[in-house]
Amino acid sequence: MVSLGLLERDGDRYRNSDTAAAFLAGRPGPDLRPILRFWNRISYPGLLALEDAVRAGAGPAKFGEFSAEEQQIFSAGVATFSAATAASLAANYDFSRHRRLLGIGGGTGSFLLAVLRRHPALRGTLFELSGACEVARRRLAGEPEGVRIDVVKGDLVSDPLPPGHDVLLLANTVHVLSAAHNLDLLRKLRVQAAPGTHLLLVDLWMDSGHTQPPATPLISGEFLIISG
Ligand SMILES: C[S@@+](CC[C@H](N)C(=O)[O-])C[C@H]1O[C@@H](n2cnc3c(N)ncnc32)[C@H](O)[C@@H]1O
Repeated sequence: MVSLGLLERDGDRYRNSDTAAAFLAGRPGPDLRPILRFWNRISYPGLLALEDAVRAGAGPAKFGEFSAEEQQIFSAGVATFSAATAASLAANYDFSRHRRLLGIGGGTGSFLLAVLRRHPALRGTLFELSGACEVARRRLAGEPEGVRIDVVKGDLVSDPLPPGHDVLLLANTVHVLSAAHNLDLLRKLRVQAAPGTHLLLVDLWMDSGHTQPPATPLISGEFLIISG
């Protein structure tokens, strides 16, 4: 920890470095501890199966299989990871032209909350698997915007999507699906979208060579493990 600059050593005593104090000590501002818990409990154990998953071309699908504790850790890690992008989307895309936003694979509502906070007339729907819905309901109950968000349980592969939305958001959801499932999902969205509906795609996109930016191809091994 000292060599990584997270702790400072003074004789036999150790204290947080400024970095650890700012981001890993639970202070107000970006608290990155949920990402460490995610890596510790979800990523690192999963990566032990990376070789088998790469050889098989498929990993053990984890979605829908998490224990309640793992789901909480997964969802909190994703929410921390998504916070900056959610704030950026809310600030940079003009949602004032829309009435109702659908978050498909919407996690615990990071994007919906960030957007609805800036647009008091907008309503939202969060569509998710049952485990994530439980965590989302608990989170949204503590937020004023939560009353404008309906939580709908379902599987985006096999279930119909909630109708009546004029802006559809796939945020960090494309990367958990196979190419075939993504095509099916986009076709499903196209069929049910009313004219004028907007589709927003937010993700860790790669260049066409699938090598840049480096963090994105590197993390794709983890997506193989977690999403199957
Ligand atoms: C990486 S998370 C992104 C969550 C959220 N959109 C965000 O960016 O904060 C992907 C989400 O997709 C959901 N998901 C995966 N497979 C799904 C499925 N078949 N149907 C509905 N949701 C699914 C997971 O439960 C997970 O919360």
